[in-house]
Amino acid sequence: MFKIAIIAMAIGYYLSCFKIPKEWEELKFEAIELKTPPSLDGPLKMDYVIDNAEILFKDEMIRPESIVIEEDAIYVSAMNELVKIVNGKIVKKIFISTTKECLKSPIPSCGCPLGIRRLNKDLFIFADGVNGLSTVNFETGDIKTLIHAGKNYNGYSVSFANDVDVLDEENVFFTDSSWLYDETNPYPAFFGELNTGRVYKYNIKSDTLTLLIDEMYYANGIQILPDKKSFIVSETLTARIYRYYFDGPKNGSTEIFMDNLPGHPDNLRLSSDKKFLWIALAMPRISGKYESVDTLLKYPSIRKILHNYMPHSILTAVFKYFNDPRNSKVYGLAIEADLNGKIQRSFHSPEGNVNNLSQLTDDGKFLYFCSYANPFLARIEL
Ligand SMILES: *[C@@H]1O[C@H](CO)[C@@H](O)[C@H](O)[C@H]1NC(C)=O
Ligand SMILES: *[C@@H]1O[C@H](CO)[C@@H](O)[C@H](O)[C@H]1NC(C)=O
Repeated sequence: MFKIAIIAMAIGYYLSCFKIPKEWEELKFEAIELKTPPSLDGPLKMDYVIDNAEILFKDEMIRPESIVIEEDAIYVSAMNELVKIVNGKIVKKIFISTTKECLKSPIPSCGCPLGIRRLNKDLFIFADGVNGLSTVNFETGDIKTLIHAGKNYNGYSVSFANDVDVLDEENVFFTDSSWLYDETNPYPAFFGELNTGRVYKYNIKSDTLTLLIDEMYYANGIQILPDKKSFIVSETLTARIYRYYFDGPKNGSTEIFMDNLPGHPDNLRLSSDKKFLWIALAMPRISGKYESVDTLLKYPSIRKILHNYMPHSILTAVFKYFNDPRNSKVYGLAIEADLNGKIQRSFHSPEGNVNNLSQLTDDGKFLYFCSYANPFLARIEL
């Protein structure tokens, strides 16, 4: 008992010596109880479909997070580069940073193109997890930053732009996974399980940013639905997808679109026939297996201590160690849902050959799998 009292006093003293940064005072830590993950049967039945996928462009790009497919061309956003592939060959690479180090062995601070979409006849728009929101012209190689990370736009600033979708040539919706951290240091948003994610509308012509959804537990993939009145957005940490209406009778309201997914969702994309949704699960939640994200969500005071009072460098090292595919087998999982959010089908990689999925996109013939951790694209025949 005496020992415990001494330890408690020591911890109390240690905590009282800390002065936390001002913006951390705004952080709210709340308890969230997720349901037990769904069991792997019915449309979630286990298979080896992605384990046996065809691997393309191995080691030719690092972490190809997102793609756009148009006829014979595939446009890829990867670490420090945007890549154009035509008829199965890389025909162009555009680099975000052209320093020697970044060209040789890119790291996140070089530039992190994430979700990418076509904006108009000439340009693509992409979220960059470090720099903000930018456009690229694949023919001329010009990159233009529209929203600069860290810049103040009437009281708001973007830190970790992650995915974007295009309403029309002037208006886009995009996610900021965390206003506090960016891709060079994403881990505190995970061990603190912070609700610092946001969704914005951005008008390119008038350069105005409008906040649509605040306090998300890591806002991630975004996809406008064919009704053109709503979009869906992934909330990675809570394994949930929300639907937000920006037009029509429900304008301005948010509802849950899919809950208790068998994993933490990343990018969302419509199938090429616009009848289904491809949902990449960045980290699966396998029923019966220990899940650190789910467990931590239940304990706000532990998250607060971890985030506010413990050395981030040590926690990051621990987090990285346990999540390194070399130290633990990483299950790959992705799902297909209908436009009402009902799961239709799933794709598994129990061996972990293709894991850490960030996006699925099809061209009617093949279904491509992108990964935020692997150095290749994978595909299966549909
Ligand atoms: C939807 O609501 C927003 C404010 O929440 C408003 O600015 C916008 O004009 C509305 N759109 C329509 C189509 O009513
Ligand atoms: C890959 O996914 C696993 C969970 O399946 C996760 O723990 C790990 O953090 C991911 N890898 C990276 C590099 O983020």
